[in-house]
Formats: sequence, C-alpha cells, structure tokens
Amino acid sequence: MSQEITTPKRKILVTSALPYANGDIHIGHMLEYVQTDIWTRFQRAQGHECYFAWADDAHGTPVMLWARREGKTPEELIEKANREHKADFRDFGISFDNYATTHSDHNRALVEKIYTRLDEGGYVARRNIKQLYDESEGMFLPDRFIRGTCPKCKSEDQYGDSCEVCGTTYQPTDLIDPRSVVSGSTPVLKESEHYFITLSAFEERLREWMDSGVLQDEVVNKLGEWFTDGLRDWDISRDAPYFGFRIPGTEDKYFYVWVDAPIGYAASFHELCEREGLDFDEWWGPDSNTELYHFIGKDIVYFHTLFWPAMLMGAGMRIPTAVYAHGFLTVDGAKMSKSRGTFIRARTYLDHLAPDYLRYYFAAKLGPNLADIDLNLEDFVQRVNSDLVGKLVNIASRCAGFINRSFDNRLSAQLAEPEQYQRFLEAREAIGKEFEGRNYQSAIRQIMALADEANRYIDDRKPWVLIKEGGKEDEVQAICTQGINLFRVLITLLGPVIPFTAEKAGRFLGQPVDQWTDLDTPLLDVAINGFEPLLTRIDGDKVENIVAASKESLKPAEAKAPALDLADEITIEDFLKVDLRIARIEKAEAVEGADKLLRLTLDLGSEKRNVFAGIKSAYDPAELAGRHVVMVANLKPRKMRFGLSEGMVLAAGDQSGLYLLSPDEGVSAGTRVT
Ligand code: 2FM
Ligand code: ZN
Repeated sequence: MSQEITTPKRKILVTSALPYANGDIHIGHMLEYVQTDIWTRFQRAQGHECYFAWADDAHGTPVMLWARREGKTPEELIEKANREHKADFRDFGISFDNYATTHSDHNRALVEKIYTRLDEGGYVARRNIKQLYDESEGMFLPDRFIRGTCPKCKSEDQYGDSCEVCGTTYQPTDLIDPRSVVSGSTPVLKESEHYFITLSAFEERLREWMDSGVLQDEVVNKLGEWFTDGLRDWDISRDAPYFGFRIPGTEDKYFYVWVDAPIGYAASFHELCEREGLDFDEWWGPDSNTELYHFIGKDIVYFHTLFWPAMLMGAGMRIPTAVYAHGFLTVDGAKMSKSRGTFIRARTYLDHLAPDYLRYYFAAKLGPNLADIDLNLEDFVQRVNSDLVGKLVNIASRCAGFINRSFDNRLSAQLAEPEQYQRFLEAREAIGKEFEGRNYQSAIRQIMALADEANRYIDDRKPWVLIKEGGKEDEVQAICTQGINLFRVLITLLGPVIPFTAEKAGRFLGQPVDQWTDLDTPLLDVAINGFEPLLTRIDGDKVENIVAASKESLKPAEAKAPALDLADEITIEDFLKVDLRIARIEKAEAVEGADKLLRLTLDLGSEKRNVFAGIKSAYDPAELAGRHVVMVANLKPRKMRFGLSEGMVLAAGDQSGLYLLSPDEGVSAGTRVT
C-alpha cells in the first residue's frame, strides 16, 4: 500500500469526504481537509502527479426541506453554498484541483452508467417494503425525521433510529407514539417498491480487498464484525418527493444520496480530466495503475469500505488503493458546542486568524489512526507561538538581519558546517515516511527537534558578538548562510503544513520552497530578499474573539424562539409528589457504548445514587465532579442497558445546548428543593 518516497513518479488521486451542501463548513470539517491537503501537497513536493478532487454533497431530504423552508429552489441554495464552501477552502489553503457538486450532469451520467452496469450484472433486486409515511406532506420519512418514545427506556422525543438516552437502536416502526418531524402528524405505514444492491454477491472480493492491507487495523476489525453479521442488501432507492437523480426506467424513484455521493468523487475528477486533458479511464478503469485514496471520518467507514467498493466492483471499475479514516475533533476536551462558542465556522476562524496556525496545530496532533483530536485553545496559542514563531521563524529572522545589512543580501559561497547541513538533509527521508504514513505528529516532532538544533547552533556561534569584534565578517556571513540554509530545509519540509508561510519564505529566499529534492543543493553565493516577518505571535485575545463571535452567530436563531409549548396543567399536590433534592456529583464518567450518556455517582448526603444522564454532548466528565445539581430523588429506578438508573438530574435544553441546573453556593447535598 504505502510506497517509498523514492519510487518513480506516481499518479495519485486523493479525495476528502463531500460536505453536505446544507451547512456551513466548520473547523471539524477542516481537520479532514487539512489532513488531506497536507498529504496531497506532500506528494506533489516529491514530484508526483497528485490531484485532489471532491465536491459538495447536494442531494437528499434535508436539502429538499431546507429549500421548502426558505421558499427557494434547491438549485439556488446549493449553488450559493458551493461558492461559500469553495471560498472557505481556498482561504484555508486547501489546494484542490477541482471542487464540484454531486448535482451535476457529469455525476448524473456516471451514476446512471454505474447503476445500469449493476443492474445488467444482476446486482439490483426489487421488492416491496413498508415504511412510515407522512400523509399530510405526501412523503416517506427518513429515520431522522421521525421522533417518538423509546420502546426500551420510554424516554420521549427520540429519533427514529436510536435512543439518545439509553443508546438502543431500533426500527422507526418500533417507536411508541411516532410523529413526523416535518408536519407533526402521526405517520402511517405504507408499502412501496424499493431497489437494493445485493452486497453479499461481493462478499468474497470485499474480504480479499479488506485483507490486502489497504485499511487501518481498527477499520478491518469493524468490517470483520459486519461480515460476521452477514452483509444485508443495501436499499438504494427513495420515493418521490426527493431531491436527487431519478432512477432510469422509473417515474418516481430516486437514487439514495449515498449512491451518488461517492460517485461524485469520480465525477469531479471527470470534470478535471476534461479541463486538463487527462484520460479518465486510465484512472478509473478496472486495470488502472494509478492510486486512489479516500480520506474520511470514522463515522462513514461503512459506506466507503462496503457500499462504495461493491458499487465499483459491480460496475467493472477500479477500487480504492486505500481508505484513511480519522477521528473526530473536540474543542477543549468536549464536543464542539454552540452555546460554549466552540462550534467554530471556518469563516469565523479566518476572520480572526491566519490559516497556517490551525493547519500547524492539527498536523501536530494528527496520527495515522482513528483517535479523536483535541483542539485545546490555550495549548493552541502556546504551541503555535513557541514552535512556529519562537523556533522556526526565529532562525530566519536572527540570520537575515546580518545578511541584509552587512552583506548586501548576499549569502556566502560556502556553508559554515556542511556536515550539519547533510544531517538535516538525511532527516528528510524519515520525515517523508511519516508524512506518507499520515503520522504528521511524528513528522512535526522531528522537524521541531531540528529547529531546536538550528537555534542552538546560532546561539553557540553568536554572530552578534563576532560582528562587533571586527575582521570576522566572512565567518559571520558563513554562519548566517548556514542558519538560512537550515531554515530553508525546515520550511521546505513544513511546506505542506503551512503553505502560506512557505510561500512567503520562498519570496524571502528568492526561490520557491516546494520541491524536496531542491534541498540537495544548498543556497549559496546568491542574493536573498529583505526579511519580512513570516508569521507573528497569536494574541490570546484573538482566540477569545473567535469564541465570542461563534456564540454571537447563534443569536438570530435564538431570537426566533417559538411560542412556549406548555405541558398540561397540574395541581400543587401533583407537583409535591416530585421529591427534588440537591445532590453533589461525586464522580462522572463516560459510558462505554453510549454516545450521549454519562454515569453520575450522586451524593445525597445520607446515601449515594447511580444515575445515567444524557448530557455527554455538553459536559466534559472531568469538569463535573464536585458540582451541585438538582435531582428527582423519588423517580422509580429504571433498568437500562448499562445498569440501573436511580433518579434523574434536571437540565434545561434546546437546539443550542444542554444546561444543568445548579443551586447557589452554600446549600448542602440532600437538601429538599421546594
Ligand atoms: O457524512 C457526510 O458528511 C457525507 N456528506 C459524506 C459523503 S462522502 C462521499 F461518499 F461522498
Ligand atoms: Zn431509550
């Protein structure tokens, strides 16, 4: 799979997952695009032919409903989103070769071709199924557009596919009192014909592909489980109304968005082929010798390692060389939160800070596996200032002054320490291997160790002392030439990570710093340009402003709060049946296998209680210990999948977040709330 960087020129196509058109790009998306972009730029810096093509994921029910809500056509909305997304990417330095939309003629043609081949190959089955249908809207409801009471734990207002409180997954038809999110009406069961791809027909080839080292170990393990459960047919049709491509030969059936989304990778590349005169079949034909890599989040592995390769196999096309999944982004240890201002849109970030800072921080944290990445805002400022400004840029600024002022911008004809330069060059291969293997954090560590060494060298040789001694000009020039050449090595190796800074450095050095082999020849006996600060320190206030602006952007939505929807009236006697008590959170911990739940150990003064609370999205468990909350102490204990829940803590919640209720200071655990 991964190849030596010394192999001859490779032909590589790289993709990121396609963002949905009905949403802004945020820094969670950017983690993936930066990861992909670094890899792409790294490949190009080795002289390989490497393209990066992707698109907006434009189809599906949410886009259709969005357009209805806005009173516009989906086409108008997705076009605007496409322009905005592209601008965000460009301004973040994402060096894509083509950015398309899945709602394009190219994609339609390719989707129809692949479908027809699958159908002709006997891989499409048709049969009737029953689904929940909203009669007032005249539409079948996707799982996420149905809410009701969990059949297991009886929690109200849960999605049609899984319960956020107890973690159970189920069919939407299992919900108690289901209702349509679109109209609020009670859906009915209705039958219609659906089209399926018979995945089991590809099982053997998929297994072979999976076992050939193209996937990460964690992904292979997950896939193994799916194979053990048996591959079920995949439902690829949706009935009208739907925003998507109509299935040929039908009047009212559309391809499910997850059919045309991955095909969008190839269609976007097809557009590029037409523009650049590339041969599409050389890249996507069954015997292609080119390489194809998909960078994705760990939540969509299933689609990329089962459905997508199966479609390609059935259509007689090449399959991916590898699929690289990454973990999610957290901010300050918790899921991004609108109420805390950590749900940061790409544009909000760009309004305050240069992209290279965040690109660098992401790189310093990214490894080759599926672990989540935390953006700790304090550490971000500290790390970027110390590494990029304090170490890297410092090397150039310390040497440039002498060269500019005392030597008329000219570098000396020889290095002061050729062996040291050679050692820096030798590190290039190991660092290249880390980039190739997506272990960016290790590459950054090694580069920063070299930056420390370069700074130590200048500290030891003290050109600022020598220049005053008189008669040592040649020595000073050679030392500074050495320093600038070491800087050149480092900024070239870091170029894929901080492209804007690398470009400025190229202007300072009088030649671009993009090809790694250029480093074989040090920069000697040439004039460089005047030094301008390549990157300045991040001012902590800027980060605070980003957080404040991210909270700000919520306000218009809050202002439109709907009228209160009050529950039925109760008497004071009814209310007094509820025994509310102050409890102290003694311990809070995540619950394995439950996305939303925290296990709380509550101290009620005279006794302890174990309570599961669906607040994981809003709170870092480590921050909760010691906090006082209000609990319903006489709630009948409930048996959940994870254990017994002996009560309930009170929280306020809406789309903007969840907020635990806490008493004023001074009250002790066990006190009755009246
Ligand atoms: O999960 C998502 O955000 C999808 N829009 C990703 C699609 S990737 C690909 F298959 F097109
Ligand atoms: Zn439940």
